[in-house]
Amino acid sequence: MARFPRPTISLFLILSFQIIFSAIAFGSDFQESDEEEFSEELLLRPLPDLKVLAHFHFESRAPPSLSNSHGRHHHLFPKAIAQLVQKFRVKEMELSFTQGRWNYDRWGGFDPISSSNAKPPGVELWAAFDVPQYLVDASWKNLTHTLSGLFCASINFLESSTTYSAPEWSFHPSSGSLRYGTLPREAVCTENLTPWLKLLPCRDKAGLSVLMDRPSIYRGFYHSQQLRLTSPEFEGRLESGIVLKQTLTVVLQPDSQRASNTYSSETKLQPSWSLSSIFGRKVTSRCVLAKSSNVYLQLEGGLVTELENVQKENVISWIDNVGSEGWRTNPFFDLSVNPDSVLREVNGLHGSSSSVLYKYSVAKYSDSRPFDLGLTWKSPVVWSCPQAPLHASRFLIGSGNERGAIAISLISTGSNEHFLGANIVEDRCKLEVDIFQVVPWYVKVYYHTLRVFVDGQPQAVTDVVEKMRVSPSEDKVSPGVMELVLKFPCDIKSAALTLEFDKGFLHIDEYPPDANQGFDIPSAIISFPNFHARTHYFEDNSLKKSPMLSMFQEKSRVRSYSEVLLVPLTTPDFSMPYNVITITCTAFALYFGSLLNVLRRRVGEEERFLKNRAAKKASRLAQLLSMLSAKIRGKKWEPPQSPSASSSFISLKLIVKVVLVTGIAIAWQYYSQ
Ligand SMILES: *[C@@H]1O[C@H](CO)[C@@H](O)[C@H](O)[C@H]1NC(C)=O
Repeated sequence: MARFPRPTISLFLILSFQIIFSAIAFGSDFQESDEEEFSEELLLRPLPDLKVLAHFHFESRAPPSLSNSHGRHHHLFPKAIAQLVQKFRVKEMELSFTQGRWNYDRWGGFDPISSSNAKPPGVELWAAFDVPQYLVDASWKNLTHTLSGLFCASINFLESSTTYSAPEWSFHPSSGSLRYGTLPREAVCTENLTPWLKLLPCRDKAGLSVLMDRPSIYRGFYHSQQLRLTSPEFEGRLESGIVLKQTLTVVLQPDSQRASNTYSSETKLQPSWSLSSIFGRKVTSRCVLAKSSNVYLQLEGGLVTELENVQKENVISWIDNVGSEGWRTNPFFDLSVNPDSVLREVNGLHGSSSSVLYKYSVAKYSDSRPFDLGLTWKSPVVWSCPQAPLHASRFLIGSGNERGAIAISLISTGSNEHFLGANIVEDRCKLEVDIFQVVPWYVKVYYHTLRVFVDGQPQAVTDVVEKMRVSPSEDKVSPGVMELVLKFPCDIKSAALTLEFDKGFLHIDEYPPDANQGFDIPSAIISFPNFHARTHYFEDNSLKKSPMLSMFQEKSRVRSYSEVLLVPLTTPDFSMPYNVITITCTAFALYFGSLLNVLRRRVGEEERFLKNRAAKKASRLAQLLSMLSAKIRGKKWEPPQSPSASSSFISLKLIVKVVLVTGIAIAWQYYSQ
């Protein structure tokens, strides 16, 4: 038996102590990193028009950093974002990249997703700063440049004062320090998504973000990638630090080979789908850094009502028997995976049933057993999504290149009867609508021409408009901003607003590339301050609240965006310079060609040459003839004289040529001035 010498043992002891010590230190390190949190969630929702909504929600939280102001080491929270917040003192910020238009009629207009994730096409950015008033514009400019670099987009175009505005009350409560700007024509693609994914601790390598297969996402009907920052610490609330919410909302169309053939008439069978069929990927694991990692399947209230109508007899077992097979299979559809739990909305809207959430925890799944939720429809079902009280659309009227008018039309969706109790003012029910609209300076809107029609009848503006703030545009300096609060009677069927405008002229270098396409007027925002899109789900474990569901519970006003308008402006004929250049070059070539020709010609030599030739040609015949006549007349023959007539002819030609060239030159001089 070998025995260790004493020094070896002591060395061993020291080493083991060190290992234990470092393990403790490491452990405490982890304890600290617990303060930073990350969670990932995905919500799937079948839509009535045979499509599927997928809404990814990633949330990162950093603890308040005021306690150690010398910067901190971030474990999960993206450092770039934390630095940006500190440097520009951003209180709140939202940046969205959107392609496609949210279909409010079919995909809903009265739920948290449509109110906060349906965004106008292109880029929208707004930010509120915690800086003195005179520094807000400078901070905004610097922020746009930083974001432009972070997200590989032309957000820096928003630094120009003609592109952003300062809404006071219609857009967001935190006024004064808020700036708002949009770029309706920004093309959104993977180069914007990649930097956005880089902010996630697991990027797109693990967890739910694995599903973000670029071809599947960009094939969709609508996608909106959004980044929302709140840092309450600037407002003196020290209990929470920066919160970063990253959401991606996509509307996809599952392949519907089976759906088309089975059922006739107007009720089509919904296409069946699974995660792997709509995204082309499966979830193999959760992001290990995430505190929670869940997938939800949401059945809207309308769909639940249909289900309950069919299952009248065993509705009790369907609703209250969590874990029963009833959740997985019912007359309408089968689910491929049994939910971990089922959450019901606390109080539904519209008198219909409350919606239902099936919750799946991704933590149980692995490479060998991937998570691939599938929904197979068995019989057709028709339902509709909850709608905002009024459906808004905006269009242009008038024709020609000089003037026109913008019209905003609001049409009742018939759903406002359900809310009558909420806003009765002085015994009369009033429906309040806020409109916020920014118009670029080259569309000169005359705000005094505002006319309001209710149910087709013209109304006095003062009867309907409760509050109004207008800042007219200033040429090449600032856009025109209009904020309106309107009060309509609750039984309104339709309303329309019109505003006339003149089209302005731009300087030639202010035209964008492809000016003939027209100029965009950004979307108007129509919001309903008395209606709040909040969905409160009853969670069994209220301590571990899901960040996405708590966001759904927040009181956010119902809001919708109108269309982007395309105004054709008078554009110069950009092919004109080309035409001018070619015609000038042709004239110059002719002028210099003739001039050189005339200058280089040696007149004397030419004359001699011509004389010789004429002499040679004409001489023989003439000589012969003259000799013959001389013989006949019996006279002596004489050689002919030099041909002076030909020489005078040549000089005449020369003079005409020179006069012509000089004439062209004079004409050119005259016309080119
Ligand atoms: C914005 O950036 C410029 C140039 O880097 C700098 O001089 C200025 O102080 C910054 N302003 C603010 C408000 O951060």
